[in-house]
Amino acid sequence: MSDDKVHPLRLPRSSRLSGFYRQTPAQRRTRLVESRWLSAEEAEACASLAGFDEACADSMVENVIGLHGLPLGLALNFRVNGQERLVPMAVEEPSIIAAASYAARLCAEHGGFEVTADEPITTAQVQLLDVRSPAEAEAALRARFPELLVEANSHLGPMCARGGGVRELEVRVLDATTLVVHLHVDTRDAMGANLVNGLAEKMAPRFVALSGGRAGLKILTNLADRRKVYVRASVPADALVSEGFADGGAVRDAILEAQRFAELDPYRAVTHNKGVMNGVDGVLVACGNDWRAVEAGAHAWAARSGVYRPLTTWRAGEDGALRGLLEMPLATSTVGGAARTHPGVLRALKLAGVSGALDLAGLAAAAGLATNLAALKALSTEGIQKGHMALHARRVAAEAGAEGEWVAVVAEQLARERVYRPERAREILDEVRQRQGAVQ
Ligand code: MEV
Repeated sequence: MSDDKVHPLRLPRSSRLSGFYRQTPAQRRTRLVESRWLSAEEAEACASLAGFDEACADSMVENVIGLHGLPLGLALNFRVNGQERLVPMAVEEPSIIAAASYAARLCAEHGGFEVTADEPITTAQVQLLDVRSPAEAEAALRARFPELLVEANSHLGPMCARGGGVRELEVRVLDATTLVVHLHVDTRDAMGANLVNGLAEKMAPRFVALSGGRAGLKILTNLADRRKVYVRASVPADALVSEGFADGGAVRDAILEAQRFAELDPYRAVTHNKGVMNGVDGVLVACGNDWRAVEAGAHAWAARSGVYRPLTTWRAGEDGALRGLLEMPLATSTVGGAARTHPGVLRALKLAGVSGALDLAGLAAAAGLATNLAALKALSTEGIQKGHMALHARRVAAEAGAEGEWVAVVAEQLARERVYRPERAREILDEVRQRQGAVQ
């Protein structure tokens, strides 16, 4: 009997759940169970903060007085390295999840997202101060690197057993009396902050003895530039055609102009990258990861040339398709921290089918490339407000008393009329109810 037959949740599944956005949260959960993304119990648990209680929160941070919630949504249509994936996102801003799903559908036309990643290297820094001769100290440290590497790994028994460990040492001269030693550590599925910080503290006396200086800070760097992820996707020009924009090639060219704007102007590049981080952070928050670390690293990477630049590159391919690349440092973890203690995080990781830290980094980056593409397409065609107003219309419809599938019906009418007043929403709702009554 095949493995698939034993585990029905592993049968091939599609991330394309048409009409999902029109359903109620309860209907969507039922859909996930029917399409074998979740078991009935897991779906039920998503409805609340099941398992995440005060005791759990109190074990995570200090001075807890209660719990704080965010919406958990699913970005759809993602195909990553040939696999259908659902992308959980926890985010307070409307439009982001819809935007990610929309762009993922465009990219699916050319096979979806292709992701590769560096090894999961986290780097610790040991600052060495009052070094009398940095050049001599540098040479002395370098000469002992092979034995220092062995010594450093002797402190990391369990990590080495898991296939990780210190891979390289590096020394950099910062000024006339200051050096820094880097310990580049493969931390496998962990982000490894505690591990490498502890290692830096253990190794600092050895570096002091060899450099003749004194130790300053011993801490990881969040510029995780040995831990980058690369996501590529392309969209055929024809797929860029949308209401009012019949020439896909012209839409592609408008997106390329938007890209050029970001390449020329840091003011625009920051907003461009904010659109990337909309997707990346949504996934990281849902999966309980340190999004502040990723943000810090991403922006430092964007500014590595001395000028702040976009994290993504969009170009026209020889076949006329729009081709995108996102390259950024992305340190993630699927063990320890919230992934161990927060039941909602465990559910999100399961829902996304995350196999490890590199896989999570790839999924978050695919979401980032998608939200960036959606923003550029909207901005360079109809403008961003249309999509925002569509969501605003849903809120107005719900506030006017529409429930379930009627929210979408009322919202679509409001958007058609470009009128977003609650009184009009109530009138439309009454008309819809009357029509419904007449039919029954
Ligand atoms: C809004 O959250 C993100 C955008 O500003 C991104 C962009 O301008 O590219 C729409």
